[in-house]
Amino acid sequence: MTQEQWEAVDRYVNELLAPDDEILTAALAASDAAGLPGIAVAPNQGKLLQLLAQVQGARTVLEIGTLGGYSTIWLARALPEGGRLITLEHNPDHAEVARANIARAGLDKIAEVRTGTALEILPKLVTEPGAGPFDLVFIDADKQNNPHYVEWALKLTVPGSLIIVDNVVRGGAVADPENTDPAIAGTRKMYELVAREPRLSATAVQTVGTKGYDGFLLARVIA
Ligand code: SAH
Ligand code: DHB
Ligand code: MG
Repeated sequence: MTQEQWEAVDRYVNELLAPDDEILTAALAASDAAGLPGIAVAPNQGKLLQLLAQVQGARTVLEIGTLGGYSTIWLARALPEGGRLITLEHNPDHAEVARANIARAGLDKIAEVRTGTALEILPKLVTEPGAGPFDLVFIDADKQNNPHYVEWALKLTVPGSLIIVDNVVRGGAVADPENTDPAIAGTRKMYELVAREPRLSATAVQTVGTKGYDGFLLARVIA
């Protein structure tokens, strides 16, 4: 199987099941025009996040790693009246693009971009009245901090909440204990933390497509 085939299938699936509407297309175009890296989730992955949020009946979502707000829009659209999403982004240029994309999507009453380093904002969310707990947490920022993000997610969720981590396969690199990339080491530490955490029931699924060979980790808070 080749990358070319994976992309052909993604095109087929996306066109039928997860077509970008004009808002999502504009969000990607604005991100591109502003020079943001093209690393947002794929359309079918955004749709998966939206479906998971809906299955979850999520009313509150925390996202770590906003970029231009593409995944944010998919997730925020899953929320019912009165729902709330907080997304964390340390790059002010990314945050600005995301805010404009979210406003264009008419989601600025629901989704709020907080600019700053996630590890500085997360402790504040624990004590901020009305911020948490979150029904769904999507972790998609600097991968070396993935163990810390799962630790904070545990403090910001309740039994029944769902924690999703992006990019947990990375072309298979995650299965190589000799890999010295801090992003891979961080993700492996995150797996080990999840594995020994009795409050979590988890699995990981491998994916192929426009984003190459990668995957998601899904963890349900059970206690
Ligand atoms: N979730 C987005 C993609 C996020 S890309 C989507 O699918 O559409 C990862 C983002 O995390 C980048 O914008 C990067 O600037 C941000 N980031 C990296 N390290 C961070 C940190 N320590 N705190 C907050 N954001 C961070
Ligand atoms: C990268 C980051 C992501 O969140 C992603 O989904 C793909 C690639 C990266 O930093 O290369
Ligand atoms: Mg990602």
